[in-house]
Amino acid sequence: MNLSGLASSLREIGQAGLYRRRRVTERRADGLLVADGRAVVDFCSNDYLDLAGDPRLVAALQRGAGQYGVGSGASHLICGHSPAHHALEEELADFVGRERALLFSTGYMANLGVIAALALDGVVVEDRLNHASLLDGARLAGARLKRYPHGDVAGLASRLAGTEDALAATDGVFSMDGDVAPLAALADVARAAGAWLMVDDAHGLGVLGKRGGGTLELAGLGQSEVPILVGTLGKAFGSFGAFVAGSADLIDYLIQKSRTYAYTTALPPAVAEATRTSLALVREEAWRRERLAELVRRFRDGAAALELPLMTSGTPIQPVVVGGNEAALAASRNLFEQGFLVTAIRPPTVPAGGARLRVTLNASHTDDQVARLLEALAASLGRRER
Ligand SMILES: Cc1ncc(COP(=O)(O)O)c(C=O)c1O
Repeated sequence: MNLSGLASSLREIGQAGLYRRRRVTERRADGLLVADGRAVVDFCSNDYLDLAGDPRLVAALQRGAGQYGVGSGASHLICGHSPAHHALEEELADFVGRERALLFSTGYMANLGVIAALALDGVVVEDRLNHASLLDGARLAGARLKRYPHGDVAGLASRLAGTEDALAATDGVFSMDGDVAPLAALADVARAAGAWLMVDDAHGLGVLGKRGGGTLELAGLGQSEVPILVGTLGKAFGSFGAFVAGSADLIDYLIQKSRTYAYTTALPPAVAEATRTSLALVREEAWRRERLAELVRRFRDGAAALELPLMTSGTPIQPVVVGGNEAALAASRNLFEQGFLVTAIRPPTVPAGGARLRVTLNASHTDDQVARLLEALAASLGRRER
């Protein structure tokens, strides 16, 4: 494509209601987000446990920077692997009940790196609504990607039939729908077919389960049923980075073979220190999860009374599907004018015709903020209370 091609492509993106614009946002001490010069309540971040701004994380980051400096200076395999990284890996492995864990710089890179290392040129079978990084992982690995209908266990079984050493991958909590994958049944099917099962629990870890062990804690599945677990640290953990957890051999193999692990600078050790503090808080402060569950109940009850079109999600991701791109943008603008930031999610992030307001709840929200959001949603979508 030449430069004039870019301009006409940008025009087409705009005409389809798909143009993306970044807002410059800044969190204030009172928890409100200043976006485009206006203080609003954020109902769209993934900081579910309200840890990103916690003073204890900030202090740990500062201590870490004092001890290690700002940057790690190199990749893990050269000389960038600090005691902070190493301790965090051991603590994460213990938290998720796996033999070992391996830090990656982002969840996107973790998914790319694991799939490319394990699929080589084999078959990768994925839920149709998996996160882009899982789908891209298979495509970029040059693997044969087969997708099954969302949450369809029989669909996974039929696509695994006749394969050998295939890799099956699913989100634990689906990032744009908020529902949970039928993990126990998927694990049975994968085991029967001799396939690896990989679960990306970016939106479940820290949030779901009594201990915060995520979708696998809810389903009671361990390392033998789900040999590959991916977690991200930029969501409920309020920090940055990601990890893969599994057997000692799996982690050792990824250290040897995963290109997105080897060929990138290790994340700053100070960030690893901040994450160690956040992991301790995720474990100790169960009240954050309990508060979130209470907020989810409140939101869903209120939305049902207003006849808002909710999805079947029991997690803090509570999308309200609007349908058209322009309609979703208009509803999001309307909410913003009423003091709420809820970004419109449009294709290709969601299927065509499925544009939505992806409402996310976090432990800092008050009952009053949720009640006012519901009123604003009803007004934006033209609903009246029964
Ligand atoms: C399910 C899922 N996996 C992976 C990622 C990527 O993680 P990261 O933001 O750390 O790259 C995200 C979102 O960002 C996600 O929603």
